[in-house]
Amino acid sequence: MQPPARLSQRICRIRVSATMQAAAEAARLRAQGVDVVDFGPGEPDYPTPAGIKAAAVRAIEQDFTRYTAAGGTEELREAICRRHAADFGTGYTAPECAVSSGGKHALFNVLQALVDPGEEVVVPVPYWTTFTDIVAYCGGVCTLAHTEERDHFAITAGVLESHISPKTRAVILNSPCNPSGDVISPEEWGRIHRLTSERGVWLITDECYQHLVYDGVPFSAASLPGARENVVVAGSLSKSYAMTGWRIGFVLGPPAVVSAVAKLQSQSTSNPNSIAQKAAVEAMLGPQDFRDQMLSEYRLRRDFALGRLRAMPGVSCHEPKGAFYLYPDIREVLARKRMRDGMEFANELLRRHAVAIVPGEAFGTPGYIRITFAVSMRDLERGLDRFERFISEQAE
Ligand SMILES: Cc1ncc(COP(=O)(O)O)c(C=O)c1O
Repeated sequence: MQPPARLSQRICRIRVSATMQAAAEAARLRAQGVDVVDFGPGEPDYPTPAGIKAAAVRAIEQDFTRYTAAGGTEELREAICRRHAADFGTGYTAPECAVSSGGKHALFNVLQALVDPGEEVVVPVPYWTTFTDIVAYCGGVCTLAHTEERDHFAITAGVLESHISPKTRAVILNSPCNPSGDVISPEEWGRIHRLTSERGVWLITDECYQHLVYDGVPFSAASLPGARENVVVAGSLSKSYAMTGWRIGFVLGPPAVVSAVAKLQSQSTSNPNSIAQKAAVEAMLGPQDFRDQMLSEYRLRRDFALGRLRAMPGVSCHEPKGAFYLYPDIREVLARKRMRDGMEFANELLRRHAVAIVPGEAFGTPGYIRITFAVSMRDLERGLDRFERFISEQAE
């Protein structure tokens, strides 16, 4: 008998994550002995803080190695609520929190819980590449809200408003934004929240980079009056605590949404890793000074890399206000090098100079590229030296 060849329509609607693809290609070259400078992945170059690692070791020694509740332990859910309250003045309690296997998993489950086929989700452009695929996987339809390049891609209520229709179920925002570095101000969050509650749509806020804000104080939309009705937070410990491999994220929101997420996990992944959950309790309740140390180091790297890029002919770059990415406009370079698009640019840069970046096509804005500055100063220097040589080369 022939094996059934057809895959589901659902799985055919999504692509492999562009950032993960770029990381895999860089890893492949590195395995062949190529000295790659990797500006592709969004990942702190720091080890996980010692106290967090020690909590995981204790968890293993104390045999905390069994299944937990599918939505995470009560201890961790309470710890997440306490941390969120201390950082942002919110008042969530454990029944309003579910723990997932990373922030991406949290977002995926939230969208599965909220969006039916044919319903619309508003996503500002440039977007984190995963948003559009997760929406597509639910059968939802992304309505892309283009932000203004001249405003450095600022996300505003004005930009979103005309995209909300009677079919809209949710708006997904990410501030600080990957890739643009935009940070939504508290006042703008107020306007956005008013807009979404008046129109009766969910406001999903991806707080993955929440603590990586270079000027001003980090802010959560969940702290706005009335936010508990329609705001759903998807959070992550990956970037703020250098815990990308541990896979711990969370959802904060109305109990019905949180229970739906836990129900989905009970039938899919079950609980997030039990040892990582113990480590996450320490991350939430232990010393927080690590976050500030990382932030000051990132600020130095951002300023250095920004200065270098701005001095390169044909490259213009705005200053990111948060996260750890630069998002330069390279359209002039593409034209000069007679290159078709950012994909060709990225492939050639990797092939000829062993520098990995992610092309703007992955984020809905061709003509831009994303460069992470969460790499050592040494790698920033040598990677940008190679980058500069590449863009100065004549077209073949
Ligand atoms: C905007 C954004 N949201 C969420 C995530 C998810 O991170 P994780 O699944 O590692 O928690 C990422 C990771 O790169 C991200 O850039």
